[in-house]
Amino acid sequence: MIDTTAPVRRSLFLHAPIRRKPRVMLEQMLALVDDDTPPDGPNGPVAVLERRLANLLGKERALFFPSGTMAQQVALRLHADRRGRRTFAAHPQSHLDVWEEQGYNAVHGLRLRRTGDLHELMTTEDLQAIGEPLAAVVWELPQRDLGGLLPQWQDLRDQVALARATGAAAHLDGARLWEAQTYYQRPFDEIAALFDTVYVSLYKSLQGVRGAVLAADTATVDAAQVWRQRLGGGIRDAWPLALAALVGLDAFAPRMPAYREHAIAIAAAVNADGAARAHPNPPQTPLFHIHLPAPRRAVEQAGAQILAEHGIQLWGRVRSSPDPDRCSFEISVGDNAMGFAPNEVVTLLHDLLTRAASHP
Ligand SMILES: Cc1ncc(COP(=O)(O)O)c(C=O)c1O
Repeated sequence: MIDTTAPVRRSLFLHAPIRRKPRVMLEQMLALVDDDTPPDGPNGPVAVLERRLANLLGKERALFFPSGTMAQQVALRLHADRRGRRTFAAHPQSHLDVWEEQGYNAVHGLRLRRTGDLHELMTTEDLQAIGEPLAAVVWELPQRDLGGLLPQWQDLRDQVALARATGAAAHLDGARLWEAQTYYQRPFDEIAALFDTVYVSLYKSLQGVRGAVLAADTATVDAAQVWRQRLGGGIRDAWPLALAALVGLDAFAPRMPAYREHAIAIAAAVNADGAARAHPNPPQTPLFHIHLPAPRRAVEQAGAQILAEHGIQLWGRVRSSPDPDRCSFEISVGDNAMGFAPNEVVTLLHDLLTRAASHP
């Protein structure tokens, strides 16, 4: 019987709660405030964060949202209302479609035109083939469910120009823009300049609590503020979330290049060994996938055994594959995964596959 309640001592999973303990986070946040820090207003943490991100992204304004789900719905709603068009295009593995219960449709009556191949990045040809007026096109950079793939810079520019030429807005799902920037090696504002609206997450790789920011021109942000209020997102006293994000910008954003280097080193060791396969090879960002020649359920059980016996967690979740004898999981390198040498990951994968082979 596998002990499914075994405590996690070490983890390859970015969001394992081993480092993000409330006391640690609160102490980091306390270092950013003093007795005079106001909870809100122009000098409160939310306003400071909004100004900092507007500046970093080169946009006139940035607006805090409690979630990226809400921020992106609002951005698309505004693009649709302005253009009198209800359809937007995005990759079939867009977070908006796969993980958000199609809120764009249920709440705003918008329609998604799924664009591109399920397992490949959206291309200029895919966009050219659309043939109907669009309110917006969404680019998710990097495309998380494809293992953090990114289009080449010129390709991205061409795609955005094409969409814009048809009157569509360009929206960036930049939940992991921090990671994407390590590949493009261009300033954040140069990347953001391609897009009318830019969403960035405050909690994923920045390891904050929750929250998002939508950056755009002043008129768009003013309109977004109305929709944020309508959707119940105009929460006052969001300062703890903003403080955690400011900690993340100071502490974690500068570590992204090192995280990417480590991802490349782990992937290289895994691919040199050959028992499993890392994709993309090399990773473009700190995020990549490990593909395993074993069925998902057997791998899940083997992983649970490793956790029970060694306190080592390998993933957040295992992904199925069209081939039932294969599966995959994501590694998103942050401080957790930095604690694993590439060869240790290879050894763990061997252990995992050996155990999986003994499960039905
Ligand atoms: C690519 C992407 N976009 C949007 C979101 C939504 O963010 P939130 O959890 O803040 O609603 C996520 C969350 O995982 C994401 O991965």
